[in-house]
Amino acid sequence: MHSLSALSFLALPLVALGAPNFQVGRRQAGVQSRQATTFTLNITYSGADFLEWDFFNQPDPTSGQVNFLDKADAQSKNLAFVDTDGTFVMQVDNTTTLGPGENRDSIRISSPQTFTQNLFIADIVKMPVGLTTWPAYWSFGANWPTQGEIDVIEGVNSATTNQMTLHTGPNCTLDTAFDSSMTGTPTGPTDCESPGTDNSGCGITDSSANTFGQAFNVINGGVTAHLVDDTGIKIWRFQRGSIPADITAKTPQPDTWGLPAAFFSTTTCDVKSHFVDHNLVFDTTICGDLAGALFPGGPSACSAAVQDPSNYQFATWRVSYIDVYNFS
Ligand SMILES: *[C@@H]1O[C@H](CO)[C@@H](O)[C@H](O)[C@H]1NC(C)=O
Ligand SMILES: *[C@@H]1O[C@H](CO)[C@@H](O)[C@H](O)[C@H]1NC(C)=O
Ligand SMILES: *[C@@H]1O[C@H](CO)[C@@H](O)[C@H](O)[C@H]1NC(C)=O
Repeated sequence: MHSLSALSFLALPLVALGAPNFQVGRRQAGVQSRQATTFTLNITYSGADFLEWDFFNQPDPTSGQVNFLDKADAQSKNLAFVDTDGTFVMQVDNTTTLGPGENRDSIRISSPQTFTQNLFIADIVKMPVGLTTWPAYWSFGANWPTQGEIDVIEGVNSATTNQMTLHTGPNCTLDTAFDSSMTGTPTGPTDCESPGTDNSGCGITDSSANTFGQAFNVINGGVTAHLVDDTGIKIWRFQRGSIPADITAKTPQPDTWGLPAAFFSTTTCDVKSHFVDHNLVFDTTICGDLAGALFPGGPSACSAAVQDPSNYQFATWRVSYIDVYNFS
């Protein structure tokens, strides 16, 4: 998110590239989390907790055509609020008709706390959908790219499957020996270094619909869990009707969740040195380096579409909670 992923998206479309191999590797040594790990809740964010996150109000580093609002403006314009059902809503301005080239109001927030090796469980009910939009749920360390970036949910325009991507300093790659230890499909370069040769990071495309966009919203989303530990980084996602009971009970047991959608093994990337002190982030940008580049008709057509507020009718994050666990 922080950087260009355009080349990887351009090189390979946001579709499943093939049937993952479910037979091999399910019990492969070293793939599962350590046994008998105990997870202890460190912090829960829900409802008004998100209003205590930091509202980023600088120009979008990815060149999006947005005004990221500070907290006061976000609240007075009702673009960040706790809804009556308790969910936290972040939305793009969907009422203002803009002139050519004008920026549209949007929200980018980051957690005041930082995390290095934790289990993160995010229950998301709706995500922003629509042409020109580029929503992401991600994390990064202040010294980018040395402290790394993890893009957990990301895509643009009319994407229907999620892309999960790492960006790092030198000497971190996606180990394709573990392709059968995940249900997703590595997509594009395996070198995670940014800028590196192409700044696209190393990405894995989810194998399943309902992981992004309208199909995600139709089923009221679900839970995305990611675990950063000494084995690597694993990302699972469960649709609304299939959330494991241990997650709901707040006694998570990742060892029982089956293959992750994405697995970035530590064998070719020393995770503990490449991903340090991350703030969690939600944002929705518009056009810019990725959504603009991939927009049908290109960046100028994307920019023209920003003027019409009806393109932002569904450009809304609706988050139930994020639980962050320590483990030992
Ligand atoms: C949460 O994690 C942070 C960073 O590891 C730690 O400083 C803090 O004490 C933890 N809080 C709880 C309640 O576990
Ligand atoms: C690259 O990372 C590996 C571990 O993945 C480490 O053993 C090696 O020393 C690193 N090389 C450099 C030049 O940092
Ligand atoms: C703007 O978004 C909100 C919810 O996120 C929705 O209730 C409302 O209908 C939308 N308005 C328009 C004009 O699309």
